[in-house]
Amino acid sequence: MNRLAHKTAIITGAARGMGAATARLFAAEGARLVLGDVLDAEGEALARELGPAAFFRHHDVADEASWSALLGEATSRFGGVDILINNAGVLLMKGLMDISKQEFERILGINLVGSFLGIKAVAPQLIARGAGSIVNISSVDGLKGTNAMGAYASSKWGLRGLTKVAAMELGPRGVRVNSVHPGGIATPMTTHPNPSPEVEAGTRRYFKTMPLGRMGIADEVAHVNLFLASDDASYVSGAEIAVDGGMSIGPYYMSQPGAPKLD
Ligand SMILES: NC(=O)c1ccc[n+]([C@@H]2O[C@H](COP(=O)([O-])OP(=O)(O)OC[C@H]3O[C@@H](n4cnc5c(N)ncnc54)[C@H](O)[C@@H]3O)[C@@H](O)[C@H]2O)c1
Repeated sequence: MNRLAHKTAIITGAARGMGAATARLFAAEGARLVLGDVLDAEGEALARELGPAAFFRHHDVADEASWSALLGEATSRFGGVDILINNAGVLLMKGLMDISKQEFERILGINLVGSFLGIKAVAPQLIARGAGSIVNISSVDGLKGTNAMGAYASSKWGLRGLTKVAAMELGPRGVRVNSVHPGGIATPMTTHPNPSPEVEAGTRRYFKTMPLGRMGIADEVAHVNLFLASDDASYVSGAEIAVDGGMSIGPYYMSQPGAPKLD
C-alpha cells in the first residue's frame, strides 16, 4: 500500500495493455501519473478512471518536442518527476529479407530511440533530485533470437544495452535504471480480439512447451514495474528481469521424458 506515495511517474504507451495495467497499479499505490500515448480516446478514458492524480496527453515517444512538452506539463502540474516507465512499443513480424529500411527505422525509432529520448528528457530532473527510477520495457526478444523479429529484436536488444549504459552513468547520481523483459503477455499487441478456435488451440499448444505453460497477463508485468519503481528496489540497478513464464530459458524438448503432454 502507498509504495509510491508522493511520487510522480511518467508512463509511455499508457493507453492500453501493460502501460494501462501499470498505471492502475501505480495509482492504487498512491502515485501521481502522467500518461502518454498516441491513442487519445483510450488514454483520456484511463485518466478519467484514475481521477485527479492522473492526466493524459497525446505523446509520441519518437518525437523529441513531444517529450519536452510532456515533461513541462508534468513539472507544472505535479512539481516534477520521480519515475519513468519507457513502455511504449510497436511490433513487426517479418523476415529480414522482407523488412524495408523505413520499417526497420520506424521500429527502432519508437522502441529504442523513443526510450533514449525519454531518458535524455527526464534524467536531468532525477539527477537534480539525486533520486529516481527508470524502467525500460524490453522483451524476451531482447534476450534471445526469434525468427521474423529482426527489427523488433534489434530494438529490444538495443534497449537492454542502453539500460546498462544509463545505469552506469546515472547510478552515481542516485538514479536506478533497469530493464524488464516480458514475453507471452496477453495484450492487444499479442492477441486477436476474436481468435478462431484453431488459433486458440495453436496458442495453447505453443505455451504448453514453455516452463509455466500459459500466457501471462499485463498485471504480472505491472507488479515487477512497481517493484523496480519503488524503494523496495533501492539497491537494484542495471538488472534485467524476465517476466516471461520461463520462455527465455527455452522450450521443452517434447520428446524427452517428463515433458508435458500436448492435447
Ligand atoms: N505483450 C507481450 O507479450 C510483450 C512481450 C515483450 C515486450 N512487450 C513490450 O511491452 C510494451 C507494452 O506492450 P503491450 O503488450 O502492452 O502492447 P500494446 O500494443 O497493448 O501497448 C503498446 C502501447 O504503446 C503505444 N504506442 C505505440 N507507438 C507509440 C508512440 N510512438 N508513442 C507513444 N505510444 C506509442 C500504443 O498506442 C499502445 O497503447 C511494448 O514495449 C512491447 O514491445 C510486450
